[in-house]
Amino acid sequence: MKKFLAVAMSVAMVFGVAACSSSDKTTDTKNEETTTEGEATDAEGGVLKMGTSADFPPFESYDDDGKTIVGYDVDMMTEICNRIGMTLEITDMNFDSVVTAVQTGKIDVGVSGITITDERKENVDFSDSYYVAAQSILVPEGSAITSYQDLLDGSYTAGVQLGTTGDIMATEKLGDRVSQYEKYGDALAALLAGKVDCMVLDTGVADAFAKANNLVVLEEPFGGEEDAEYYGIAVSKDNTELLDKINAALADMTAEGFFDELNEKYAG
Ligand code: ARG
Repeated sequence: MKKFLAVAMSVAMVFGVAACSSSDKTTDTKNEETTTEGEATDAEGGVLKMGTSADFPPFESYDDDGKTIVGYDVDMMTEICNRIGMTLEITDMNFDSVVTAVQTGKIDVGVSGITITDERKENVDFSDSYYVAAQSILVPEGSAITSYQDLLDGSYTAGVQLGTTGDIMATEKLGDRVSQYEKYGDALAALLAGKVDCMVLDTGVADAFAKANNLVVLEEPFGGEEDAEYYGIAVSKDNTELLDKINAALADMTAEGFFDELNEKYAG
């Protein structure tokens, strides 16, 4: 699995810290009306509103124009929309708002490299998983942190994105040594400025940040083998019709080799 991730994510280098920070304040305000639950998703040929935190290359981040959100999740959702006859509309938001926005019907789908967890499943449904990930430790070159155990034993601090599985796992193990940031760009800026000693985040994205900023991803993951994470598309519990369509599209796409191509595309 590790090998697959390393390959799939080596696209990383195209995304720099500047691109990440510039996304911090970007908000989509096009979309101000409140969507009543089920409305958009029942409409054949309608708009599918996707919420994401566009700070997570290569899954979602801003293109060089600073406006267009691109990445693995966007390509996947564009294909799903083609297949179910809908038009994709993407809104950037903080990661810790995505699940709530799905739950309240502000958006139809949350697609943001979201790990399927039991806690989140209490609030939203998830599609079948489309990607396997793990948590990694990202450090500056020459860091004294050379292993997971070093991080646990020392008094080192870690930056995480608020509400992520990295946040939950790091906070459980490191307590108040963890600093939470709403956007990854800010956590990365803190690491580069020496305000935190490391970051705990999904492996593929850690690889992306490492390549773009001369940082190092420790070989050893944060946690153990049992901590593999599966990404899924979050859908409101009231929208089983949409969920079924998405799962059917995902199954066809898998069978037709779409994901093999996508993994290759993002392997650079
Ligand atoms: N996979 C992790 C989680 O679900 C992190 C996802 C962060 N995604 C993002 N687009 N910032 O908690």
